[in-house]
Amino acid sequence: MARQDPITGESAGIMHLPHPIATLIPAPRSWRPASGHFRPDDLARVRVDAGVRDPSLAGFAADSLVAALGRRLEAAAPLEDGDVDRSPELRLAADPDLPTECYRLLIAPLGLELRAADRAGFAHGLATLFQLCAAHGHDGWPCGTIDDGPAFAWRGLLLDSGRHFQPVKSVLGVIDRLALYRFNVLHWHLTEDQGWRLEVPGLPRLTQVGAWRDEQAGGGRHGGFYTANDVREVVAYAQARGINVVPEIEMPGHCQAALAAYPELSCTGGPFAVQTQWGIFPDIYCAGREEVFAFLETVLAHVLELFPSVFIHVGGDEAPRERWHDCPRCQARLAAEGLQDEHQLQSWFIRRMGNWLALRGRRLVGWDEILEGGLAGSLPGAVVQSWRGVEGALAAARAGHDTVVSPTSHCYFDYDPGVLDLARVLAFDPVPPGLTPAEQAHVLGGAANLWTEYVPYGQLDRQLFPRLPAMAEALWSRPAVRDPRAFLDRLRRHDPVFAALDIRPGASSRPLWVDAAWDTGRSRHVLRWNLEGPLAAAVAGEAPAVSCAVQSMWALWTGGPGARPEDLPAADTEWRPVAGHSIEVDYGDQSLTVFTQLLVDGRPCGAPEVVELARHQALGRPVTLKPTFDPGDASRLTDGVLGTWRRDDGRWFSCAGADLDATIDLGGPVPVKVVLVRFLQDANARIFAPLVVHFHLSDDGIAWRHAGDGTHTVPDRQQDKVVVPFAVWPKDTARFVRVHAVSGLTCPDWHPEAGQPSWLYADQIVVRDQGGPTEP
Ligand code: ACM
Ligand code: ZN
Repeated sequence: MARQDPITGESAGIMHLPHPIATLIPAPRSWRPASGHFRPDDLARVRVDAGVRDPSLAGFAADSLVAALGRRLEAAAPLEDGDVDRSPELRLAADPDLPTECYRLLIAPLGLELRAADRAGFAHGLATLFQLCAAHGHDGWPCGTIDDGPAFAWRGLLLDSGRHFQPVKSVLGVIDRLALYRFNVLHWHLTEDQGWRLEVPGLPRLTQVGAWRDEQAGGGRHGGFYTANDVREVVAYAQARGINVVPEIEMPGHCQAALAAYPELSCTGGPFAVQTQWGIFPDIYCAGREEVFAFLETVLAHVLELFPSVFIHVGGDEAPRERWHDCPRCQARLAAEGLQDEHQLQSWFIRRMGNWLALRGRRLVGWDEILEGGLAGSLPGAVVQSWRGVEGALAAARAGHDTVVSPTSHCYFDYDPGVLDLARVLAFDPVPPGLTPAEQAHVLGGAANLWTEYVPYGQLDRQLFPRLPAMAEALWSRPAVRDPRAFLDRLRRHDPVFAALDIRPGASSRPLWVDAAWDTGRSRHVLRWNLEGPLAAAVAGEAPAVSCAVQSMWALWTGGPGARPEDLPAADTEWRPVAGHSIEVDYGDQSLTVFTQLLVDGRPCGAPEVVELARHQALGRPVTLKPTFDPGDASRLTDGVLGTWRRDDGRWFSCAGADLDATIDLGGPVPVKVVLVRFLQDANARIFAPLVVHFHLSDDGIAWRHAGDGTHTVPDRQQDKVVVPFAVWPKDTARFVRVHAVSGLTCPDWHPEAGQPSWLYADQIVVRDQGGPTEP
């Protein structure tokens, strides 16, 4: 069946000719075609009508189109009565009848006219023009009128500057990207356990101490903060683009950086260090001390000076109650206020701050935890941001509170695209089912949340794109159903738009699941692929093709896993088509990396799936484990398939709270030059490298000789995931190899989950009679 484009009314066949309007993201509300064409190459200047009272608008418009046009339009003075100038120009005209944020763009043979009532409307119209100029700057545009405006008043992105600091320039770059896709809220997460980012007069230690943390990998410190001037620059830059900056100052939890600076604000008195681990931490602001409220009011008073936003976010999420439970001051507060428990104490805390803000004309925004302990009725202007599903949004709307909807399922852009893919983002509807029309009116909109635990500022684009345009579509326009395949088509036409802002997108999805197995009888690996996830389902009916590329990876033995983006095949890789659903890899004596890629219409779609295959003496040999483990998994230790950074890739053998003690029968006496076993460490997931690995050899499985111990120097506090190899070089001959990895058994004392069982993750026990890692 032919698909009809909602904007142009044209069928899918015609869509393949790039109709300029049909490639806009988000799709505009309406398009009325007229006769004739406009040639953007002829566009000479931008002129502001006398009715526009904003003197900066002409220059702003000219500047904002430079990257799209490759030249700057002349910013001309308003025409006097009787002046005539017939060369094509962009006219900006005030139109007070248009609602806020709306614009009308007229495309006529002799020029363009952009009409709006407010700066945001002009900014959104200019974003549309930017896309048209970047993608179709040399095509003739069909004439007609775009009438456009958003479905939702809150179209946001949370930028977490706490976990990783971004320089101001990088924050401005994020605003450019938001403006390009007509977002209107930058939710700026400024305080965290791992860093306090806002300089506050009178509280110097917040930034002297709280803005810096020790780096575990390679030593050094990570940090930075924003001065008042930095903030003013960001706010003004955003305002010019129709974007409101909503600051978030977290309370009562996620504040360990502030407590490191001022430990007297805690229940216990500290001392504390700025947190170096990701997670949820027990030390929070003491609800019993008045100094805490004096402190927070000092901070917020400064925030109100810097941020004109009516909405002020105070967090409120993930605040453990244990310190309050044990603190005499908190318990005294509880009694004095007639509160039942610590949940009500949290709600009292938030209400107190909400009232303080309300007296100053601002509205408190908090994560859905602020509903716990009873928010309703007592803080009428408060806004609830729902993140743990949409239940918070439902409860808030039913209680008469405005809500911003950003569930982890659709909105967490820190997630891997294999978990949250483009199609799922596109399917997001901020209005949860089950609300009456009156309750629906409380849904202000939605937001994508970019938490940055694993996203240093140089990698923001990889995480934001291509999902950000899909979220823009979900928040700007509200058709009942969106076709992900058609969206992919339009997204492809945004390559030149991305190029204009130097945006390098990451993957849209992980559509391929590749299962690799060693076939002992045929002495080769067999890889089977399947399509996974909503985007894969969307393209599956349209004859996608899978291709593969193979690289020799002897270098593997000196490095870690190869599944880093920078190691992926270059854009011009010759993909070899795969016939059917499996690939047989017969590579003689080589260790290899196999890349498989889904192609749609001949172009790569989603991330390649990477399989690293190690050829060695123990391949396919039986493994016996000391009891307590499911023996089914043990074959992973000798299947020749290395693990990736994703611990759930099915390629790691894992065990919790126990040593790994494995014996391999090599089938007969075999020369053993080197034995190597690789472990994953991911402290945030309770996975630690073993303390030591003991290696033994035997000819009969009864009498054992010690072949050496493997140790390592990776700190257990290291935040990054790391693969730790343990090797010995026996240069012996043996039939049996025993590997005993000694686990720490539980998470260390400093860990957020101290005392809980820790995990060992091993992917492969490699036995080689030649090659392999060099002996130190
Ligand atoms: C959140 O993700 N903790 C709001
Ligand atoms: Zn306390």
